[in-house]
Amino acid sequence: MNAPPPLSQLRKGRHPGAESYEEILDQDTRPVPAFLREQHVPELPLEGVPVERYFDREFFQKEVQHVWLKCWQWACREEDIPNVGDTEIYDVVGKSLLICRTKPDEIRAFYNSCPHRGRKLATLPGCKSEFRCPYHGLSWNTDGVLKNNHIAWDFPQWEGGKMDLPEAKVETWGGFVFINFDLNARPLMDYLGPLAKDFERYELHNRHKIIHVQKPVRCNWKALAEAFMESHHSVTTHPQILPFLADVNSQYDLLNDYVSRHFSAQGVASPLLADQNLTAEQIIAAMTGQATSRRQVGEAGAVPEGMTARQFAAEQGRQALSASDGWDYSDKSDAEMLDALLYNLWPNMSFWAGFPPNLVYRWRPRGLDPEVGIMDVVMLKRAPKDAPRPPPVPVHELGIDEPWSAAEELGGLAGIFEQDMGNLPYVQEGLHASGTGVVHFARYSEMRIRQLHLLIDRWIAAGEAGS
Ligand code: FES
Ligand SMILES: [Fe+2]
Repeated sequence: MNAPPPLSQLRKGRHPGAESYEEILDQDTRPVPAFLREQHVPELPLEGVPVERYFDREFFQKEVQHVWLKCWQWACREEDIPNVGDTEIYDVVGKSLLICRTKPDEIRAFYNSCPHRGRKLATLPGCKSEFRCPYHGLSWNTDGVLKNNHIAWDFPQWEGGKMDLPEAKVETWGGFVFINFDLNARPLMDYLGPLAKDFERYELHNRHKIIHVQKPVRCNWKALAEAFMESHHSVTTHPQILPFLADVNSQYDLLNDYVSRHFSAQGVASPLLADQNLTAEQIIAAMTGQATSRRQVGEAGAVPEGMTARQFAAEQGRQALSASDGWDYSDKSDAEMLDALLYNLWPNMSFWAGFPPNLVYRWRPRGLDPEVGIMDVVMLKRAPKDAPRPPPVPVHELGIDEPWSAAEELGGLAGIFEQDMGNLPYVQEGLHASGTGVVHFARYSEMRIRQLHLLIDRWIAAGEAGS
């Protein structure tokens, strides 16, 4: 077999016969920022990964120790805890943190576990004046300093020692509060850098949560994350969006070891429907009919002569968004009004770029179960012009057997998530049932998933080597 050409040479038409994302941008009505045109496609090894890493408890323990307890992960939004004393609880891999605003400009994360005999100090979020353990009544100030120990007489071993609550590391970006259990972790920006740079224009810190839905799903957290890291599953999983989604000719990039992205153009038909020669009206009708809620394309109507569906949808989106928040979008690119521009921060977070209300995802294991994951779906909307930022919505928790449609606030998106979730329990069962014992990833379209696994391997190896 001849060696395949390097990915870096396949700038156009990585899917045979299809125009590239870059070529779609060439036809847009406004210039796009340069970073949307950059391409970063390193060559990665093509070997598959063993199926055990999706369910094996020994492997999962390694992930917990060397990935989950070492990596940065967002725990809540700053707007969730606006006042001193406000506290959110973040649970992951059997750990629990109290994320507390300790001063107007300071947020800290304390282990949610009583240093006496271990009871969780809080099981509900809210504004706290102290952390008082419900078991024997010891209490700590919200800055983590021991406040009251009425059984001090019986604890000579604590005398002179510090019994303050232990802490995790905290940093913020884009209005998100990130935590890291590793007190020696490198700064968040060492990982997030390229994402933070590209997102400056979208000002996530000035947005507020208009949706936050959380749901357990019967599959490993990686299988859950992987369902949102490529677009080429749309042809079979979401066929109804193909009339307006450039799926198989999406662009995929790795910006550094920890930030990856993929771009799927909207308002253009999938190359897989090329033989249908859809008209602009048919594309717009499919978009409005699907009501994917984030992109407002206005009412379906006659597309003016000489305008493509993509140009029309972008313009409708500008006008609808301006009417909704008062900001001017007249110079914003078609791509940033319409496209699916998904950036991921390793290992478990995804942030959509662009100007409309945008999605953020988070995936994590449920407790210490490698076979149940939890997905958070957040939507952030820009604060209205000349008006205070509205307060964030609270988390809407769905049960493991509840459909996404039970969260009415998701609108048309619920159906898309339901389609994704329709696969996942069967992915998990199929991994157990595997006849080859190996999962394979496409060289280009699944490059981000490959990177997820390579880094997990690298962190486990480094952790086991003690570095
Ligand atoms: S376990 Fe918390 S005061 Fe005893
Ligand atoms: Fe999907």
